[in-house]
Amino acid sequence: MAAPGGTGPIGPFPSRVESDEDREQYDKLRRRVLWSLPYGLYVCGSRAGDRRNAMTINWVTQLSFEPKLVGIGVERSAFTHELIAEGGVFTLCTIARDDRAIVRKFTKPVEVDTTARTLNGFGFHDGATGAPVLNQAPAWLDCEVRHAVEVGNHTLFIGEVVDCGFQAAEDTPVLRMEDTRMVYGG
Ligand SMILES: Cc1cc2nc3c(=O)[nH]c(=O)nc-3n(C[C@H](O)[C@H](O)[C@H](O)COP(=O)(O)O)c2cc1C
Repeated sequence: MAAPGGTGPIGPFPSRVESDEDREQYDKLRRRVLWSLPYGLYVCGSRAGDRRNAMTINWVTQLSFEPKLVGIGVERSAFTHELIAEGGVFTLCTIARDDRAIVRKFTKPVEVDTTARTLNGFGFHDGATGAPVLNQAPAWLDCEVRHAVEVGNHTLFIGEVVDCGFQAAEDTPVLRMEDTRMVYGG
């Protein structure tokens, strides 16, 4: 996934950057530097009323240990954004390194089968908040939104962990961005 399409170089620019060509080059350089930041990779579940969704996400971090707060950066145009803003809950699932194919399945609109209890064919169950947890996630967090901070074209949803668990051995190797060829943001 590359940079947002259709936009020219985005400022601000350092003073050494003077020409249009310099700005283009700086824009590309900054993207590569941002892509080099290490990240994990997760599936974020969301729920509002009867509507459920799950999407691949890497902008995830713990933000406080008392209370236990976790922040996620969600694109304002994503369906997930609509559900989290409305439902006020989200889940985060880690992905086993051997299951890396999952992340590609959750970068497109999700097909929910509430009878078979599947999201794009992957079994799920509802967490305490009602948001979906993938059955094959090695570990999961269930969160209630405490703050929503608008940051550029994303919203930083800050959730308090209200439940969590392991569904596989605690030392199961989990997927990180560097295990894939994918990039996001930059
Ligand atoms: C590797 C990777 C990481 C991603 N990380 C994020 C992220 O941190 N935040 C975000 O809003 N979208 C992220 N996305 C994009 C969403 O997965 C994608 O826009 C998805 O289609 C949104 O789904 P939705 O509209 O069904 O909610 C990422 C995509 C990929 C491939």
